[in-house]
Amino acid sequence: MSGPAAVIAGLGAWLPPRVVTNDDLAARLDTTDSWIRERTGIRERRRVGAGMATGDLAVEAGRLALKASGSDSADTVVLATTTPDRPCPATAPEVAARLGLSGAAAFDVSAVCTGFLYALAAAAGLVATGTAERVLLIGAEAYSTILDPDDRTTAAIFGDGAGAVVLRAGRPEEPGAVGRCVLGSDGDHSDLIRIPAGGSRQRSAGGPADPQDHYFRMDGRKVYRHAVERMTAAAHQALAAAGWTADEVDRLAAHQANARITDAVAERLGVPPQRRLANIGRVGNTAAASVPLLLAEETAAGRLREGDRTLLAAFGGGLTWGAATVVWPRVTAYVNTEAEAA
Ligand code: COA
Repeated sequence: MSGPAAVIAGLGAWLPPRVVTNDDLAARLDTTDSWIRERTGIRERRRVGAGMATGDLAVEAGRLALKASGSDSADTVVLATTTPDRPCPATAPEVAARLGLSGAAAFDVSAVCTGFLYALAAAAGLVATGTAERVLLIGAEAYSTILDPDDRTTAAIFGDGAGAVVLRAGRPEEPGAVGRCVLGSDGDHSDLIRIPAGGSRQRSAGGPADPQDHYFRMDGRKVYRHAVERMTAAAHQALAAAGWTADEVDRLAAHQANARITDAVAERLGVPPQRRLANIGRVGNTAAASVPLLLAEETAAGRLREGDRTLLAAFGGGLTWGAATVVWPRVTAYVNTEAEAA
């Protein structure tokens, strides 16, 4: 007899209101709207305002997901993020307290853009062992706080935002049950996506860090190649574990890294373009927030519907990657994406 499974019970998404368009970037960097659109598919992204941190975004998305689930309670809060409010302690306990969930187990997951898939697998495991019964799982990023304002490549790609999912204990055969997750890593390529300073490696070397080393750095061209290969391979494994063919996938919810990357993954898998979910044009690459933000927005818009066989896939720094399958449940998503000009 199999134990309980984690079942999706509600979703939420929250974007900071400040919109930064490609033309806004082109006004101060050597780039153009057409370069960014053609190479990435991104038209605009959101940015936090002064003083706003990842925890603030996480609280807003978490509140909406709890409301959508029909209950304010959760015994566990997991926050996937690359941009915690501070290096120590984790951001999740404070988010839990601000949501009235003091006493809940709470921890952060650090796997850059794969963070949500890693956190989903961890949460599903906690439910399967009976350690947790209701998990609030949040992906949130104030990514702009680690970007070099003079680096046109990363400034064009990354955006801020948060998405959240409530998981409840249910039965493995129910719609919304999270199946076996596929996870992997390759630390031999940890240098392709990194913030060089601020950790024990730099601190123990003595002397102050070069201020430039506190910014996020990425080798875009190499990352691109790994992202396509790793996400496609992980997705194949998740499909095999679920016993689905690519043809049976109704919706592909891939990490919104770059529209060309998700197009290439869909093509290699053999998933028709119209089944590929996308919001990157409006939000950019929101790292650990990307997949839950996409799932919440598409559910709220009615494009992700009850019964849809949904394939999740992500890739990120580490390097890390992951994939999972879910038959989409009848579920509510609340989204607040109100915008204001920069
Ligand atoms: N505007 C104008 N030119 C830009 C630019 C921008 N915003 N960003 C980079 N360029 C330039 C580069 O400097 C380079 O110039 P050079 O030839 O004079 O050196 C040129 O464009 C081509 O760069 P390249 O890296 O080969 O372009 P690309 O087609 O690979 O696109 C990325 C660059 C970053 C968009 C692409 O590599 C990418 O998306 N990588 C993956 C990023 C990602 O998803 N990261 C997160 C993973 S989770």
